[in-house]
Amino acid sequence: MSTPVTLKFPYTIEKLLNSLEVKGTSILIINEKEEVTFCNSVFLSATGFGNIEELNSIKIRNIIHFTESLNELSQTLQNNKKLTVNTKNKTSIESTFSVLSLQTHDDKNQGYLFMLYDLHHVNLIQHFSGTFMKDVNLGVLLINTDFKLIDISDMACTIFGMEKEEVIDKSLDEIFKSVPREYQLVQRTILEGMVTKNHAVSLINETQRYELLMDSNTLKNSSGDTVGAYIILKDVSNLRSLEEQVQRSDRLAMIGQIAAGTAHEIRNPLTSIKGFLQVIKKSLKENEMNQEFEFTNIMLTEIDRINGLVSEFLLLSKPRDFVFEQVDLTKVMQEIKPIIHNEAILHDVEVHYHPANDLPFILANKELIKQVCLNICKNGIEAMVDGGTLSITEKIDEKNKQVSIEIHDTGPGIPSFLVDKIFDPFFTTKQEGTGLGLSVCQRIIHDIGGTIRVSSKGFGTTFIISMPLPAG
Ligand SMILES: Nc1ncnc2c1ncn2[C@@H]1O[C@H](COP(=O)(O)OP(=O)(O)OP(=O)(O)O)[C@@H](O)[C@H]1O
Ligand SMILES: [Mg+2]
Repeated sequence: MSTPVTLKFPYTIEKLLNSLEVKGTSILIINEKEEVTFCNSVFLSATGFGNIEELNSIKIRNIIHFTESLNELSQTLQNNKKLTVNTKNKTSIESTFSVLSLQTHDDKNQGYLFMLYDLHHVNLIQHFSGTFMKDVNLGVLLINTDFKLIDISDMACTIFGMEKEEVIDKSLDEIFKSVPREYQLVQRTILEGMVTKNHAVSLINETQRYELLMDSNTLKNSSGDTVGAYIILKDVSNLRSLEEQVQRSDRLAMIGQIAAGTAHEIRNPLTSIKGFLQVIKKSLKENEMNQEFEFTNIMLTEIDRINGLVSEFLLLSKPRDFVFEQVDLTKVMQEIKPIIHNEAILHDVEVHYHPANDLPFILANKELIKQVCLNICKNGIEAMVDGGTLSITEKIDEKNKQVSIEIHDTGPGIPSFLVDKIFDPFFTTKQEGTGLGLSVCQRIIHDIGGTIRVSSKGFGTTFIISMPLPAG
């Protein structure tokens, strides 16, 4: 046993306390009745107590856990031994320490001085974790050994559709009892002490679908006992949809290459067939072979259809003569309005057009933009088999520096399991459709740096074509 560390009292104690304070050491002084008589500001801020009055006359053992006598404690000089300190909000933190016996010149004990060296670090970590739980774009759940939820980050509340106040301090059984089975994975993870890293989970709450990567592990104190567990949920929904977009445009590029190769090969023979057919048509007329003459008309229309299809096919490959120019979207819409109206009348559909004032020019190709708007309006009209309303709205998004055209129909909507497929080449639900319309639109808008988004919730569909504004 080492010699007790004592401090003759009175001593230049103020000087000592000041220098310790500067070093970030927490100080507590107790009297011979083990009651707190002094603490410094480092201790107050680390433990969350407001001032010394809150601690005055409180027994030291209510704040710091130790079973030894104070005399024994003051002889403990091992560096690695730690004491557990209770903070104001009843969390416990550990710290290395020294205890000095305070003695008068005639060796009478007047009390003890506690020096706690690591409390200020903990304090910083506590501040960090408090801020982390609020700010961070991660779903975080902290659970104690009784399976009660101790803390939950704002984002986790959003994902699970819960209010923080309602779930804190509740047992996980209670919180997760009414949720679907996939949520229970979270609970199982903790119960089984399972360590997970980047486990992919899809969660759908009332408003949104989340693609998440989950990490979880148990939390252990310095003696290796489990004191709780954490779960971190990383939202990768955007990454997933980006990945899907990349895959889609890869597929498009491949089909485009094939299309470019074969389309020319189809067009050339078609041109000569058409030419000869026109000659035959003429002589059939001269010879008054009326029935055969009618056949040639049908054949020519069919050839035109093939030609049209091949042209769309060619657009799937990167358009070669894509000339960028300043395009006035409002003017484009004015020009295609009559075509949309004609189509609408045929399907008993009303068209509402809401132009934006002073829509800025975009950099694109006018004819191609026309084709995109027409295709999407045509789809909307075709979807409303029993009539309905097609609304076209132009919008400027100054913040994201883009303009958009929203095309909304009151048709039956697109079932969620098909939404991902409608941009795929050759995907069609129409008897006469080619399924190329939307993939061509996607290609064109992609090439000018824009996006096409679709939202369809049970009834009606909205396509949003967003196009970037030129820089500056
Ligand atoms: N507004 C909409 N409402 C409901 N379904 C839609 C709508 N727009 C597109 N679709 C679905 O997406 C599919 C693909 O559309 P796309 O324009 O690519 O091809 P298509 O219209 O079938 O054929 P094409 O454009 O060659 O006539 C359609 O067959 C339809 O099932
Ligand atoms: Mg179409």
